[in-house]
Amino acid sequence: MNLVVLISGTGSNLQAVIDACKAGKISGRVAAVISNRADAYGLQRAQTVDIHTAVISHKDHPDRDQYDAALMAEIDRHQPDLIIMAGFMRILTPAFVNHYAGRMLNIHPSLLPKYQGLHTHQRALDAGDSEHGASVHFVTEELDGGPVILQAKVPVFADDTVEELAQRVHVQEHQIYPLVINWFCQQRLVMKEGKAWLDGECL
Ligand code: GRF
Repeated sequence: MNLVVLISGTGSNLQAVIDACKAGKISGRVAAVISNRADAYGLQRAQTVDIHTAVISHKDHPDRDQYDAALMAEIDRHQPDLIIMAGFMRILTPAFVNHYAGRMLNIHPSLLPKYQGLHTHQRALDAGDSEHGASVHFVTEELDGGPVILQAKVPVFADDTVEELAQRVHVQEHQIYPLVINWFCQQRLVMKEGKAWLDGECL
């Protein structure tokens, strides 16, 4: 399967996907990595292992519709079976989301439906939560609102900083994202009637 990964930053989840493909834990290949920021470190991670990279900057496009159209054109050049959002910090238009319906995944650093949007670790700390985590979900028009496929939980300790908590969540993200991506590549995972199904069972 051809995978196209969208990033905006560090790309540690991208690295986990690249490593899992190399280790045969994902039956697919990363065909391209696309960033909206030229300085995203994840681009270097891809270039190091000769994966095609592209930068499509939102600053070069007058509005969201035109940006998403340019992004779609670049993605579709690579004939992707699956689009993987890995820290891509852009809100997507309905046209974009619908174009990839059922074949676009995101990882979000919270136990959805808790804490959609930004600053999830700070919000979990502020709320005094005893557990936090990450969720992999299909992307739909609702921001961070598509059907959840898999979550990983971590404990929150009384003296945690945002950085410590984020780091604990990241470790789990790197486990669950490749796993879910491989389910999709093995054609065990689909989105149907707005829900996620694994091996014919509704999640
Ligand atoms: C992760 O925490 C992910 O959950 C969120 O963005 C972050 C990306 O981190 N969507 P990285 O760039 O993969 O290190």
